[in-house]
Amino acid sequence: MGYDLINGNSFEVLEEEFPDNHFHAVVTDPPYGVIEFAEENVEKMRDGVGGVWRIPPELDGNERKPLPRFTVLDDDDLEMLQEFFHKLGDVLYDKLRPGGHVFIASTQLLMHYVSNGFDDAGLERRDVLVRETKTLRGGDRPKGAHDHPEFKDVSSMPRVYWEPWLLYRKPLEGKLTENLEEWQTGGLRRESDDRPFTDLLEDGKTPKHETEIVRDAHPAGADEEKEAHPNLKPQYLMRELVHASLPLQEGTILDPFMGSGSTIAAAHALGYDAVGIELDETFYGMAENAIPRLADVDTPVEDRPDFEHIQKDSASLTDFS
Ligand SMILES: C[S@@+](CC[C@H](N)C(=O)[O-])C[C@H]1O[C@@H](n2cnc3c(N)ncnc32)[C@H](O)[C@@H]1O
Repeated sequence: MGYDLINGNSFEVLEEEFPDNHFHAVVTDPPYGVIEFAEENVEKMRDGVGGVWRIPPELDGNERKPLPRFTVLDDDDLEMLQEFFHKLGDVLYDKLRPGGHVFIASTQLLMHYVSNGFDDAGLERRDVLVRETKTLRGGDRPKGAHDHPEFKDVSSMPRVYWEPWLLYRKPLEGKLTENLEEWQTGGLRRESDDRPFTDLLEDGKTPKHETEIVRDAHPAGADEEKEAHPNLKPQYLMRELVHASLPLQEGTILDPFMGSGSTIAAAHALGYDAVGIELDETFYGMAENAIPRLADVDTPVEDRPDFEHIQKDSASLTDFS
């Protein structure tokens, strides 16, 4: 099968096009304000003015990617967010096989909304993975502190140096060994014989050449301004998660919020089947163009003995559609 990309609303697509108990795992990075990917805010982000997106100040002469400001969400937005993660928990519960895992990127301020929705849906909480990454969130002095020298040694909240990834699982049918036999799910693939998958994920940012691949994949015409997806995740991280998600190295991985396709590229690079769904037409076009090139990037994950067959076939990796 390889991979299948769908341009649409994942809630509708999953209900209409996939049977229950279908997917072996979900690896995804969802919208967090929910409103940040509403059409009007995406337009404001693309224009660089207003809305929930802000551009952090330049650092060392490097331009920064836009970040959504989650602190501006009001009570109605938060209610909508809670509703969103309830609906997501329900649909993933139905579409996952028993024992299927969900790896879902989150944020310190809002991860309890995911947990509430997923707990209520009947998914089991298994861990919070820590991805070490220095972000530009938090650590700021109080607004207007320049008028108050006595506040200069104060920051409103910690500078954020890690990204949480919640790990959930649809309950097993029977014991783990029985579930593995029946559904090929329930456990996590070990990193090697002497090291299990761990919940501390290596430090790192998205490499520049991956961002360039995605920017070049923008479907706009040659003379229009092109920007990469603002939330592009690195291939080394996505391959680490995708590898862990299929305990027996078989099955189909779903990313219902595909963005520019980093999960699908990671699955493809490791030789796994995947389905990616994306609402926004521009990001969808970006994913279509970027996935083959992102899948060609080298990371340490495919050097694992598990993937010797892929090393041999690597020439064919550029042949997929
Ligand atoms: C945080 S981004 C994912 C970025 C991705 N990690 C990458 O590497 O490019 C979330 C994506 O979900 C999409 N999205 C939001 N609501 C959606 C929905 N209901 N169905 C499908 N996609 C949706 C947004 O357009 C956005 O591209």
